[in-house]
Amino acid sequence: MFAGKNIWITGGSSGLGLALARMLGERGANLVLLARDRIKLDKVKASPGSSKIETMVCDVADPRAVDECFKGLAARLGAPDILVNSAGVLLEGYFENQPLAEFHRLMSINYFGTLHCIQSALPMFKQNGGGRIVNIASSGGLLGIFGYAAYCSSKFAVVGLTEVLRAELKPQNIAVHLVCPAEFNSPMVEGIAGGRTPENRAVVHTVPVLEAGAVARAVIAGVEKGKYIIIPGLPVQVTVKLGRAWPGLGRAIMDSRIKKFYQGPNKR
Ligand SMILES: NC(=O)c1ccc[n+]([C@@H]2O[C@H](COP(=O)([O-])OP(=O)(O)OC[C@H]3O[C@@H](n4cnc5c(N)ncnc54)[C@H](OP(=O)(O)O)[C@@H]3O)[C@@H](O)[C@H]2O)c1
Repeated sequence: MFAGKNIWITGGSSGLGLALARMLGERGANLVLLARDRIKLDKVKASPGSSKIETMVCDVADPRAVDECFKGLAARLGAPDILVNSAGVLLEGYFENQPLAEFHRLMSINYFGTLHCIQSALPMFKQNGGGRIVNIASSGGLLGIFGYAAYCSSKFAVVGLTEVLRAELKPQNIAVHLVCPAEFNSPMVEGIAGGRTPENRAVVHTVPVLEAGAVARAVIAGVEKGKYIIIPGLPVQVTVKLGRAWPGLGRAIMDSRIKKFYQGPNKR
């Protein structure tokens, strides 16, 4: 399914995007990794087993840059068969401490970044007679999580877009996958470790934290099976399913975790 295919991965220089690139590379895919930081991309390119990896500096928040980049890549390397939208940023903190500019920043990367890449790839898929889009959203795009006001908003938007595209693009032979992992270890999560609210930690760590490699394996297996929603890890699948089937129950569990937290040494 992946051998000889052109797979473009935004956010491919780190975390889940990089783990996917490694595994898809082992399966014989031709990879293009996109991210903003040239140094990180060069490190990936210089590492062993990267001979079939191309890298490209591209800020997904900038629609013109994305379009130029995609057109240039397609002219040089051929159109993508699969687009993986993994580029993303995280912000955690109390809503009242999250400035408006940060809401815009997260929307412009997590949501609009995904949208820009799909808009630029779509004509290429159509010309090729089909394609595949893998959107890395989050369990925080299905359930509201304490401390993630800006992040969940942007990921709910990704989920909404993906739901519509699944239906609209299917008749055009373009498959769409929605990936909703809970927390996994990556530089993104390390980035918030120091300043994280304890309530967020208490809620998020209700389910086990996975490694990026385990999430990548689940994504690849899900795509191979043609699954639309891919939720890595059984405990997260159960939590999300319960939360979506009985939203009141999901909210009650979160509220009880937070209540318990405030009843400890952390009185409010
Ligand atoms: N880690 C988790 O717990 C978790 C859980 C659920 C969902 N997710 C989602 O999984 C995806 C990958 O997360 P991760 O944990 O692997 O994060 P990560 O290790 O921080 O990687 C993020 C990648 O996105 C790139 N990126 C960020 N902003 C970009 C922009 N404007 N344009 C292009 N590339 C950009 C980064 O490179 P540059 O900074 O060089 O641009 C990097 O390659 C994200 O969408 C995230 O929201 C993560």
